[in-house]
Amino acid sequence: MTDDDPGTAVRRDRFSGGPAREFLSSLAADAAIFEADLAVDRAHTVMLAERGIVDSAVAGEILGALDDVEAAGHDALPDGEDVHEAIETAVIDRIGPDGGRMHTARSRNDEVATCIRYRLREDLLAVVEATIALREALVEVASEHTETVMPGYTHLQPAQPTTVAHYLLSYEGGIARDTERLLDAYDRVNRSPLGAAAFAGTPFDIDRDRTAELLGFDGTVRNSTDAASARDFLAEGSTACATLATTLSGLAEDLILFSNKGFVELSDEYASTSSIMPQKKNPDTLELTRGVAGDAIGEATGTLSLLKGLPRAYNRDLQRAHASVFEIADDVREATEVAAGAVATVDWDEAALADAAGEGFSTATGVADLLAMGGMPFRTAHEIVASAAETVSDDDSPAAAAAKVDEATRKVTGESLSAHVSREDVESALDPAASVASRDSAGGPAPDAVDDELANATVRIEDDDAVLADERESLAAAAELLDAEVAEYV
Ligand code: ARG
Repeated sequence: MTDDDPGTAVRRDRFSGGPAREFLSSLAADAAIFEADLAVDRAHTVMLAERGIVDSAVAGEILGALDDVEAAGHDALPDGEDVHEAIETAVIDRIGPDGGRMHTARSRNDEVATCIRYRLREDLLAVVEATIALREALVEVASEHTETVMPGYTHLQPAQPTTVAHYLLSYEGGIARDTERLLDAYDRVNRSPLGAAAFAGTPFDIDRDRTAELLGFDGTVRNSTDAASARDFLAEGSTACATLATTLSGLAEDLILFSNKGFVELSDEYASTSSIMPQKKNPDTLELTRGVAGDAIGEATGTLSLLKGLPRAYNRDLQRAHASVFEIADDVREATEVAAGAVATVDWDEAALADAAGEGFSTATGVADLLAMGGMPFRTAHEIVASAAETVSDDDSPAAAAAKVDEATRKVTGESLSAHVSREDVESALDPAASVASRDSAGGPAPDAVDDELANATVRIEDDDAVLADERESLAAAAELLDAEVAEYV
């Protein structure tokens, strides 16, 4: 059937009954939008009755049949090209040809676009909720570790000491932006295309704002061609999920490396064993979390590839665009929840972290900073400490290392170290905990600076949680309104 046809059960079979029937059909995948389609049918039918386009008694019969179709479930639908056609057939089977009035002043093109948005809203909010829970876990564990010194890396080489709290908050910051991106995508998903019909509007005196209201949308996609054709919201939802999954994959990778180094131990619930090697405890949940990013990136790329170059208005390619986004949103949500659980329960080995924090002369930058704070040009300080780094070893006591810095200072400047800074200050700068405490610039790892950011993160999380609750409340209120309006007719 094409939507150029008025459509009857008989004509429907005219083109779609051949060998390509299964290829054409999306009915199985449409299980994901079965509930959405019922809501869209109800809202549209109520609006048609309110505008006098369909008689109230007929609307009542249609709405009653829809209840029955819902109770029977998606699997009980008659065969059809898609869920929209199958539900309509099921309604006609129950109440006769008047059931066909449900499809007045619309097309499957605006119908499916509305269903996808309706379903994706819930999925995106579920992902948002998972990001908030993960951020809560990160903040909670961070608040217990503001003084837990650990090595920080660049290029996977020991770079500068930091703290577990500062490290964890770095991910809270990233995932906060993922929450923001998802909520931002949600705003554009949450607009109704219904009433666009095939793409070119309808002569019936419909009320698009009313169906938008009954379905909880925050307005309409106005231009009817745009409304029926646009799937940029799928690209946005997909990329928001893929970006989150990419953030998660970095966190997972870190924890895998840290468990390899003995810095952390995953709780048993988030680890897995080997079927042959009895001693093994593997970070499988984190590896799978890392793996989900690959699928999510593939999904986002696939969505954009499918959309690229599609001419206006509707093209059947679009039927293949949305099922995967529901699946990937689900996978990414699950990975986010698993990451939250792993973060909340992982054990940080403070002694191992403290031992490793100063390895590889990781306090060198702090010593150079100290010399520069004593008045020396930073580049000269860098040269002195780089020269000392050639001989400083992990076994050196602070005094021995300071003596090597002194030697290097004399070599580079011809003056003693104490002409610039005191020996005690240098020895202190060589201590990882003191090194961390000295870096108290805004957003830095010093415990005081981290305390400020813990407070800021807590406020941000509460704000996002309130936005999530508001969005959910307005969806629930719309669902209640729709139920109440339906009840007027049934
Ligand atoms: N099932 C289709 C989809 O998912 C909607 C049907 C529109 N079909 C058509 N031939 N115009 O996009």
